[in-house]
Amino acid sequence: MKLATDTISLSQYLIEEQLKLPYATGDFTALMNHLVYAAKIVSREVRKAGLLENILGSTNNVNVQGETQMKLDEYADTLFTNALRICGHLCVMASEENEGIIEIPSEYKIGKYTFAFDPLDGSSNIDCNVSIGTIFSIHLRKSPHGTKGIESDLLQKGDLQRCAGYILYGSSTMMVMTMGYGVVGFTLDPSCGEFILSHPNIKIPESGSIYSINEGNYDFWSDKVKSYIRKIKNIQNNNKPKTLRYIGSLVADFHRNLLKGGIFLYPEDTKSKNYPLGKLRLLYEASPMAFIAEQAGGMAVTVDGDRILALEPTSLHQRTTLITGSKKEVEFFLEYTKTKNEYSI
Ligand code: AHG
Ligand code: MN
Ligand code: MN
Repeated sequence: MKLATDTISLSQYLIEEQLKLPYATGDFTALMNHLVYAAKIVSREVRKAGLLENILGSTNNVNVQGETQMKLDEYADTLFTNALRICGHLCVMASEENEGIIEIPSEYKIGKYTFAFDPLDGSSNIDCNVSIGTIFSIHLRKSPHGTKGIESDLLQKGDLQRCAGYILYGSSTMMVMTMGYGVVGFTLDPSCGEFILSHPNIKIPESGSIYSINEGNYDFWSDKVKSYIRKIKNIQNNNKPKTLRYIGSLVADFHRNLLKGGIFLYPEDTKSKNYPLGKLRLLYEASPMAFIAEQAGGMAVTVDGDRILALEPTSLHQRTTLITGSKKEVEFFLEYTKTKNEYSI
């Protein structure tokens, strides 16, 4: 098989994009290069996880969400934190694995961007060699430049993101990102260690046959969600029933639906300690994915139909429900559930 000769690496792409903006300082490009470096190292460790002692399995720690931390969660968190807080372009960071904000140590330069991230998404899949990922979200700070960033710099709505993306450690490693004008995807070529532009303009199909939801929670959903799921599976009401695909790693489930078309749902469930909110985190999961979904022509809303990107965060670890995917599928969900407060099928 031949490699395309007219393609470029992620680093080259970022420089080219920067050159198109006469006012750009290069800070964002430099920040992204630190991120790309960390992503390559984490990818390398994930790739050999089964071979190394002391990398699979859980730690004795429980994170701020009350979830057991896996060794790779902790490793990825430390690696991204250390690689990025010294880069000189961030004023503050937040990670799903840390209760408070992550400050920039005083010996390093303070920059103008904020960085929120889920270092390893899909923790329950780490030990069985199933796809996992990293999700990130970048905003421009609100507080005065030159000082240390504060929590409110991170509590900004998704609409104000400067960049969002994810790294998927799947059958290959990919970085998918948006800077607010379309979605691009890069695949890591392990032989040269570069992310190569492989998906120059990702558009989610307008509709699709896949639905992704943890159906084990069925008994704990609201009547309208139960009714919707019954509806899309019911051949009499819908001459082409949908196909269930659910991995349990948001990055992997989202990525598949982005390329193939479909709908991903994480509604609230009464057995969860987060009820009446959903499980997913607004800043580290829903908001960056929503930015990518909308930029690819899709949608991302809560079960009540509010745009995820319009939500004003009030705390770092805030949870939300998330319905995202192809435009027509999300629209159908909203239209159907608007009128169904009772279990009707
Ligand atoms: P994390 O591993 O970062 O805690 O995130 C797990 C999330 C997300 O990746 C996935 O969509 C969802 O949890 C799966 O939850 P269920 O196991 O409840 O289906
Ligand atoms: Mn996650
Ligand atoms: Mn995680």
